[in-house]
Amino acid sequence: MPSSPIFQGSSPGYGTGRRKSQFTYRQLGLLTSYSTSSPLRVVSHIDLDAFYAQCEMVRLGTPEDQPLAVQQWQGLIAVNYPARKFGIGRHCTVTEAKKMCPQLIAQHVATWKEGDEKWAYHEDAASHIGTHKVSLDPYRLQSRRILALIKESLPANLQKVEKASIDEVFVDLSAQIHSILLQRFPELANPPPYDDPTEKLPLPPISALDWQADALVDLDDAEAEADDPDWDDVAILIGSEIVRDIRAEVRRKIGYTCSAGIASNKMLSKLGSGHKKPNQQTVIRNRAVQHFLSDMKVTKIRNLGGKLGEQVTSVFETDSIKVLLAVPVEQMKAKLGEDTGIWLYNTIRGIDTSEVNARTQIKSMLSAKSFRPLINTMDQAVRWLRIFAADIFSRLVEEGVLENKRRPKTINLHHRHGGQTRSRQNAIPQGKILDETTLFELAKNLMNQIALEGRIWPCANLSLSVAGFEDGVTGNMGIGGFLLKGEEAKSLMSSSREASVDPHSEARPEKRRRTDNPGIQRFLARASSSSDANDGGAEEAREHQCHQTVANQPPPEHDASLQVEQDASATETKTRQLPITDYTCSRCHARLENAEAHQSHLDWHFAKDLQEEERGSSTLANRPAGPRNQKPPASTSRQATRGSGKKQSKLNFG
Ligand code: CTP
Ligand code: CA
Ligand code: CA
Repeated sequence: MPSSPIFQGSSPGYGTGRRKSQFTYRQLGLLTSYSTSSPLRVVSHIDLDAFYAQCEMVRLGTPEDQPLAVQQWQGLIAVNYPARKFGIGRHCTVTEAKKMCPQLIAQHVATWKEGDEKWAYHEDAASHIGTHKVSLDPYRLQSRRILALIKESLPANLQKVEKASIDEVFVDLSAQIHSILLQRFPELANPPPYDDPTEKLPLPPISALDWQADALVDLDDAEAEADDPDWDDVAILIGSEIVRDIRAEVRRKIGYTCSAGIASNKMLSKLGSGHKKPNQQTVIRNRAVQHFLSDMKVTKIRNLGGKLGEQVTSVFETDSIKVLLAVPVEQMKAKLGEDTGIWLYNTIRGIDTSEVNARTQIKSMLSAKSFRPLINTMDQAVRWLRIFAADIFSRLVEEGVLENKRRPKTINLHHRHGGQTRSRQNAIPQGKILDETTLFELAKNLMNQIALEGRIWPCANLSLSVAGFEDGVTGNMGIGGFLLKGEEAKSLMSSSREASVDPHSEARPEKRRRTDNPGIQRFLARASSSSDANDGGAEEAREHQCHQTVANQPPPEHDASLQVEQDASATETKTRQLPITDYTCSRCHARLENAEAHQSHLDWHFAKDLQEEERGSSTLANRPAGPRNQKPPASTSRQATRGSGKKQSKLNFG
């Protein structure tokens, strides 16, 4: 709870002539319900600094100034700040990084070893890409600890926390701030004059605010600063104090540093947390928003880092927000469509009415491995299936499957061979507690079904996923939640379905449309906008980022489960399969260095598509101001364009 004195001076009515606040009693009251329309709203985005690297430092007890990076095979996936001082970034290989900083600790991520029952930190993992699979479990575990601590440090009945990825959360502080405001300024609890909630509040009885060590975003003119503080400034200051306390708790109790942004909405708070790193917090007051945004490129904004950002930049021939601010809304609508136009117009003005969503439930879990070299036998495949089942099962346990809190309805196996992907799905038998053996048996069964279809070796990728999560008897749906409803049951049981997708084909109209789906776009936007400043934009790093984003930065709908590995060792076969010399991804325009990186990138898209399928279109409907005209069809079918030539059925995950 904030305790330090934050206000300097106190002189009721002091000011430059304006005797009333610009805010009303009603707007103040709206804070209690987290209303997105209150101009007094305060949202914070908290992001862990060099997260995986910090996890390893905490685990190993590394001194704070020791340069450390997290290694995955020969690449780096996280670099701590002391190591960044040497110019080391995610684009570096381990060898390069060690040249730049000989005292660097390069800690390899934990891996599942083929045939093992559990992941572990293996010293020789880096040279065993063929037989090991990366496990992000240690980081998920830390992520949960941090999230739990953040929640603990907020009042139980006045908190709204959204896990936005493995290392970040949004916190809507509005209700808590409302309660603190009323404690500190009891006059605010008085009924409004004439009992009219549209009456303006009195001005805050203070003239200067103490922002302590916060990075305060400047204003563009001195006059704006000269204006006395209003309630939005006081509210955001209290928010900043709460966040400072949260960060201190996380630091003190479990040793992690994080950075935060505090502003009036999610979009601005996210820009704020990345503004100054590490271990700092940035406050963007309403009066500073225009100045903060106008120097920025439009592509830095959430959802505008990907295709939409490119489109905007090319249509208006600029990526400068300052220049775009001069474009009338009518013109934006004409060029981008009604919804997107309005959305962009608002967004560059710092307006974002999206809610902090505390109900973040996992919708699917995926465990996958790309094989380099390719695998050739059922035995090998089965050994991986065992790992996938164990991996997914341990995450299911976290999800409460043993207590019947939630459980998935379907299980899916995807198999890639010679550029063709086959997939089989089956219902997970209900009525008894789900265990690892059942998952493993189901997976084997699906594998056998795929094997009946024809040539399946060598295999380049296997992915096992579970989806269709439902609340169990201890959840709020009651026992009915476990019973499949007529249609659903029929479609799941009648036959496991088949799908052949050629990820290299150009002729995939449905999939093309999916790329325009704002869900993916948002996802890609995030992927290309969150690179660390030292990355230098290396394509390799960018490709990597895509993968890791899948693994670690679940899109706003919060499936924290998808896990795809990027394994980039070369195989001849692979290269032959790809009659491509320009390794630009036709979907997101990422430029990849070589055939393997390209293939690996396509794997990622494929996994992402799967996830999108599972998520369905429902989440898009939650998006208040997004570019709705880009909404994809509710269900998507895919055409086989190569191989058997069979038309295949919908990949509809129930
Ligand atoms: N991550 C990754 N590869 C990427 C992006 C992210 O493996 N291309 C992982 C990182 O290991 C990272 C975590 O996801 O620790 C969170 O990513 P992000 O917040 O983007 O970067 P951080 O490493 O936390 O660094 P920063 O201090 O800039 O937030
Ligand atoms: Ca981070
Ligand atoms: Ca992050």
